[in-house]
Amino acid sequence: MKILTVVGARPQFIKAAVVSRILKGKAEEVLVHTGQHYDHNMSDIFFEELNIPKPRYNLGISGGSHGQMTGRMLEAIEEVLIKEKPDKLLVYGDTNSTLAAALAAVKLHIPVYHVEGGNRLGTLDNPEEVNRICTDHVAIRLMACTSSALGFLEKEGLAERASLVGDPMFDAFVYYGTAVTETHKNALTDFDGNAVKRPEKFYYLTCHRQENTDTDEKLAEILKAMDSLDAPTVYPVHPRNRTAVERVCKQFDFKNIIVVQPVGYLTSISLVNGAEKIVTDSGGLQREAFFAEKQCVTVFDHVIWPETMVDNRNQLASPDANDILQKLSAAQKINPDYKPFGDGHSGEKIVEILLS
Ligand code: UD1
Ligand code: UDP
Repeated sequence: MKILTVVGARPQFIKAAVVSRILKGKAEEVLVHTGQHYDHNMSDIFFEELNIPKPRYNLGISGGSHGQMTGRMLEAIEEVLIKEKPDKLLVYGDTNSTLAAALAAVKLHIPVYHVEGGNRLGTLDNPEEVNRICTDHVAIRLMACTSSALGFLEKEGLAERASLVGDPMFDAFVYYGTAVTETHKNALTDFDGNAVKRPEKFYYLTCHRQENTDTDEKLAEILKAMDSLDAPTVYPVHPRNRTAVERVCKQFDFKNIIVVQPVGYLTSISLVNGAEKIVTDSGGLQREAFFAEKQCVTVFDHVIWPETMVDNRNQLASPDANDILQKLSAAQKINPDYKPFGDGHSGEKIVEILLS
């Protein structure tokens, strides 16, 4: 069996690492990288650290408007599909790469297998929601990470195509977590490439969503909250908002925020495990905070991972310094028996469905 996998963005490399490792030797996998993320620290570093096979194709498509990026990918992926003639297409998550690949395949009657199906925010204003809904509805098999995601698929009439498999990000956290070394812990660099020392006590921030970075005011509020905390914040900055972060940090002269280049997965996990608390707008990082039992505040208007939103373990905040600080100060409660993201073996279940 020939399976063609399309990835393009940072979180997809991590999920693909989990599944490709298990798929190896059981089917031929053709890996296609759209090029959506392309900086070394946004792409190659994940392939190197997680031993992901080199993609057979890199389409080199990134940037532009959502329509431009998706349209260019659709055309280029169609060409690859026609050439490779795979039996199945495998896609992850909700990026423009996911949507473009799903559309290209379904129009060629190639069955689409979607990992991380079913998550819903309830608003089409969010670009990833549009990608998720369209991909789910053209996919032949939907693999949900959580029971809430499965519930959304059932409500949309997709129950017969859907299975609950658990979260490959949890698999990655368990499997690759053991590979974190002191080198990964000390791999922080500033924008000029100089090594940056990680403080003993720190908070971990990531913030890159379109919704939080479209104006300096929102970013300034988030950074103001972090700057006022009792320990420095380590903030690896996504290239999307690097210029804005530099501008806002200069304007407000923040002294308690350590701004660094994006880090590799193992360094990110080491930051998760070492942090006091986590503030983020990332879907992946809020789950990793949960896996590591670190309290998280998600700066976003919508719940994307409802299972994490219990006992103050993950709370939504608006991009408002007071709101973020208030949420950070609430005590969390941990129930060690509560494991809503599966058993760390979703990769095996995904492969079983792919091969069936
Ligand atoms: C995308 C996903 C988002 C996911 C995120 C993961 C969509 C619609 N959104 O958002 O769901 O959370 O990836 O990180 O697909 N850029 C660089 N270098 C890079 C990558 C990006 O400079 O290596 C720049 C691009 O040129 C672009 C901007 O960052 O101008 C945003 O990148 P893009 O891939 O469009 O969206 P993300 O914010 O990364
Ligand atoms: N991450 C990383 N380096 C960073 C920031 C995040 O490796 O500099 C990891 C993070 O630990 C998580 C994943 O990237 O595993 C989340 O990706 P991202 O926030 O880009 O996308 P999202 O999850 O929001 O789709």
